[in-house]
Amino acid sequence: MSQAAASRVQADLERLLPLLDARLTVAFQQGEAERLGEAMRYSLEAGGKRVRPVLCLLAAEAVGGQIESALPGALALEYIHTYSLIHDDLPAMDDDDLRRGRPTNHKVFGEGHAILAGDGLLTEAFRVLADGPGEPARRLEALSLLAEAAGWRGMVGGQALDLEGEARAKTHRLTKRDGPKGEAQEGPSEGETLAHYDFDHLQLIHRLKTGALLRASLEIGAVLGGATPADRQALRATGEALGLAFQIQDDILDATATDADLGKRAGKDAGRGKITYPSLLGLDGARKALEEATETALCQLASLPNRTSLEAWARYLAQRAN
Ligand code: IPE
Ligand code: IPE
Ligand code: MG
Ligand code: MG
Ligand code: MG
Repeated sequence: MSQAAASRVQADLERLLPLLDARLTVAFQQGEAERLGEAMRYSLEAGGKRVRPVLCLLAAEAVGGQIESALPGALALEYIHTYSLIHDDLPAMDDDDLRRGRPTNHKVFGEGHAILAGDGLLTEAFRVLADGPGEPARRLEALSLLAEAAGWRGMVGGQALDLEGEARAKTHRLTKRDGPKGEAQEGPSEGETLAHYDFDHLQLIHRLKTGALLRASLEIGAVLGGATPADRQALRATGEALGLAFQIQDDILDATATDADLGKRAGKDAGRGKITYPSLLGLDGARKALEEATETALCQLASLPNRTSLEAWARYLAQRAN
């Protein structure tokens, strides 16, 4: 990454993180269920890179909109993301004990409260966006995008496929997979390698479990910022590619970084038999796929007038160390 891009990312973080941090936990300060409030604040305050809210704000700026108008979307995205991490770490899912440098939510508050903390964050996301401020028609559009990205056609669906993939990998290598309506589909046809067949399914999982919310981050920012249809489409396509790149790098980091680097347990995917980019393509293949997805994102940005920050972020995300 060039020095100019690195400085740009640093400058964006310095001006945007304080805006987010000042607002993120306000909604969870006062309420009857005090322990639940504490559980939600615990995971939000643990930090995290805030990639989704920052991309949302930068997308609004990139189309000439105001940061303030995109803030409800940015908060909503971080709530959904944080909820997805709390649930992802549960024993019934990835069974992890470290997240954002702290013991996972269920280790501290118990499984019941961790499930409810996730539920509370998920619902608050829709409230914050419904309450505004900002133009109602734009917020309504953003609500619809958020529901699609977070729900069963997006993140939640991807998490389900991820779990199913893991369970199947434990019993037998993937030679068949279920079709959209549950019917068994043919395994790889003659000439199609098993790796290639698995790869399409892996891409689908990544696009859904991680890509959908990243794509929504850019598109919601575009909508709340008042984008033209062409700029919105460019940002949606950028988000699609960046989302895939983001999960590829997550897989690479799982295989190459340390717990201390990541603030979460490294090296778990292989042990659990997850289908990942490094497991299917090897580390070099995964890095090449990451580069390609990042290039695609950069190409999609080319038509935007105000693209310097997003370009810098696309490069940074491909090289991030945590
Ligand atoms: C981790 O996301 C889970 C994925 C979707 C890959 P992040 O890497 O954005 O996690 P935080 O928010 O920085 O903790
Ligand atoms: C999680 O993917 C994606 C989510 C929707 C939370 P991972 O399971 O790979 O995320 P980490 O590595 O635990 O952060
Ligand atoms: Mg997972
Ligand atoms: Mg996980
Ligand atoms: Mg991971």
